[in-house]
Amino acid sequence: MSQRRHSGFRPAGKPQKAKSTLPKEPMTLTVSGLGAQGDGLARHGDTPVFIAGALPGETVTARASGKKGDGLAADLVSVDSASPDRVEPPCPHFSACGGCSLQHYAPAAEADWKREVLRQTLRTRGLDPVVVDPVIRIGAGTRQRATFAWRRLRDRVVLGYNQRASHQIIDLQACLLLETPLADVLPALRTLVADVAPVGSMGDLSVTLTDSGIDLCLDLPDYPGLEALEQIGRWSETHAAARIGARIDGVYHPLLTPRTPLVRFDGASVDLPPQAFLQPSRAGADALLAAVRAALSGTEGPLLDLFCGLGTFALPLAAEGRAVKGFDSETTAIAALSRAAKALKRPVTATVRDLFRDPVEGKELKDVTTVVLDPPRAGADAQCRALAEKAGASVRRVVMVSCSPATFARDARTLCDGGFRLVQVVPVDQFVWSPHLELVARFERD
Ligand SMILES: C[S@@+](CC[C@H](N)C(=O)[O-])C[C@H]1O[C@@H](n2cnc3c(N)ncnc32)[C@H](O)[C@@H]1O
Repeated sequence: MSQRRHSGFRPAGKPQKAKSTLPKEPMTLTVSGLGAQGDGLARHGDTPVFIAGALPGETVTARASGKKGDGLAADLVSVDSASPDRVEPPCPHFSACGGCSLQHYAPAAEADWKREVLRQTLRTRGLDPVVVDPVIRIGAGTRQRATFAWRRLRDRVVLGYNQRASHQIIDLQACLLLETPLADVLPALRTLVADVAPVGSMGDLSVTLTDSGIDLCLDLPDYPGLEALEQIGRWSETHAAARIGARIDGVYHPLLTPRTPLVRFDGASVDLPPQAFLQPSRAGADALLAAVRAALSGTEGPLLDLFCGLGTFALPLAAEGRAVKGFDSETTAIAALSRAAKALKRPVTATVRDLFRDPVEGKELKDVTTVVLDPPRAGADAQCRALAEKAGASVRRVVMVSCSPATFARDARTLCDGGFRLVQVVPVDQFVWSPHLELVARFERD
């Protein structure tokens, strides 16, 4: 329906511009907390103001830059009274780069803030916030994978992360989050894009550091010609790449695989399918596995691993002699996990299944006592409902891994309404300097 028919009447003449309500003068503000994105939160009269780079307890001067939800976004002009938790940001790209918003916050203060946000999220669902442990912090320099944006200009390639609140790309000289071999290869990635992508093109480039070398996927407008393929071959040799692929119109094409990319979960080797999910860091995966093991203590016998992916948990748990039934919607991940389990003679059966539409439920849950769940950010609504139902009554222990405290709290509420108790939550921070947080939670039912 057109605007005109909808509104019925519109006065003649030029449409009036909405009046700008942004304060023009710089504002002196007292920062009371951090917003969900890690921006300093203050009030100008009754209006909330979000100031990137400001910290709780600080008095700052800031200039309004636009609207943000019901409030204002503001640029930091000066810190007039600094927080004792303010530290020198170590990265030269801090403040411009959209990748890290909290580098100016002391690590212990950042961890406390994340823990408190998690506790508050639990409170809003009527869940006990006391069960949240101190945050396990996975330091910088540990990321095993990254996705960069790039643009091929006439005379050079711009490659990096997007600027804060913008599609402009920061031409990245360093990234302190990455494992050293990935950080070191940045200049060579620019050379590769310059050699194979036509002037004017742009896209993403994903890199993963595997046990057998770098696995790389580059967006390209067309399948590369002979000359570009030769350049890719030379690049691969120089940098001992494991695999190079191209994503063309959203479809992955393998170009070169000198070595099968292998990843390891607690010693169990799995071949990494193109574009498969992998935890952001090995140290993070190890910390999650340790927390899952601890949360399973006292249980024995077979278990379900729902949203199992490549078997980050299934393969190590099966090494302890437990039969594991894994489910995941990704066909290639399930195939890789099945191959690894067979080669290692581990008791894992892995099945492709969409657990959003078709959760494990009813008779299938008969005699199941222990479940591990690690859903994507959207959570596991349908699956948790199935576990909370009568048919899931044999389940006594649920261990849930989550990268979204909000959907976790929703799903935890469902489980608790079904008779489970939320006993412990272990926050694992694999995303330092960003507002994100991961967690492992233990639920028990008598
Ligand atoms: C956070 S990852 C966890 C994977 C694995 N547990 C790990 O640690 O590597 C979430 C997994 O959920 C899977 N997934 C996403 N949507 C799904 C769905 N609707 N049904 C089943 N699995 C799904 C993804 O393929 C991915 O492997």
